[in-house]
Amino acid sequence: NNNIPVITIDGPTASGKGTVAHLVAERLGFHMLDSGALYRLTALQALRREVPLTDEHAIAKLGEHLEVTFKGDAIYLGTENVAHAIRAEEVGNMASKIAALPTVRQALYSLQLAFRKTPGLVADGRDMGTVIFPGATLKVFLTASTEARAQRRYKQLIDKGFPAKMEDLLADLQARDARDMNRAVAPLAPAQDAHLLDTSQMSAADAVEQVLAWYAQVRHK
Ligand code: CDP
Ligand code: CDP
Repeated sequence: NNNIPVITIDGPTASGKGTVAHLVAERLGFHMLDSGALYRLTALQALRREVPLTDEHAIAKLGEHLEVTFKGDAIYLGTENVAHAIRAEEVGNMASKIAALPTVRQALYSLQLAFRKTPGLVADGRDMGTVIFPGATLKVFLTASTEARAQRRYKQLIDKGFPAKMEDLLADLQARDARDMNRAVAPLAPAQDAHLLDTSQMSAADAVEQVLAWYAQVRHK
């Protein structure tokens, strides 16, 4: 299935990857892979079952046996819709910790490849363009200033009814950036052939138009 088009959208937390990826997928009628959700789902299970971070093998097992179904905005773990639960900041923080474990990344590898189906895929995460789909049709790396990202995350959490403190969010975000960029496996970094897009001063709608314009340039190559 290496001929099926893939658009990868990577970037740091709250840069707008998920929002932009969903809108681009909708416009093109493509499938969507929210790879961060897979790490969040694995993290949620580890938290619920009180598996300690030191037990890498047990956490990888949880990832390998995820019974996940994406249906519109719903994300089912077995029969439970956990779309809301996995957005908690606690789960995001745990996700970024388990994401540094090589066996966990390995366990989620083939699950991610299986999302590449006709007519095409938009995949968002940290290593979509570098590790999972190195031959992607188009690679985008979204960035935004720390302040812009903290503000976006703040608004998102409040809108979803989660408690949020700007001060804590800024600190969490910086810690998460550092963990994502400095880990040994699949660190957060743009692929060599990625298009960089700084959205600090840009709406999500404008970012979508830019991605679609780039895709129009490469789709027939
Ligand atoms: O997936 P990621 O963590 O990168 O970000 P997200 O969950 O898509 O959240 C980004 C939030 O910022 C959403 O509430 C968007 O509406 C908003 N936003 C954006 O995504 N892109 C912009 N250029 C401006 C705002
Ligand atoms: O929404 P946000 O960008 O904060 O996080 P996410 O995309 O839902 O991912 C949660 C965590 O999973 C991130 O902090 C990353 O450490 C990790 N992750 C990863 O390592 N590789 C991916 N392809 C996607 C997420």
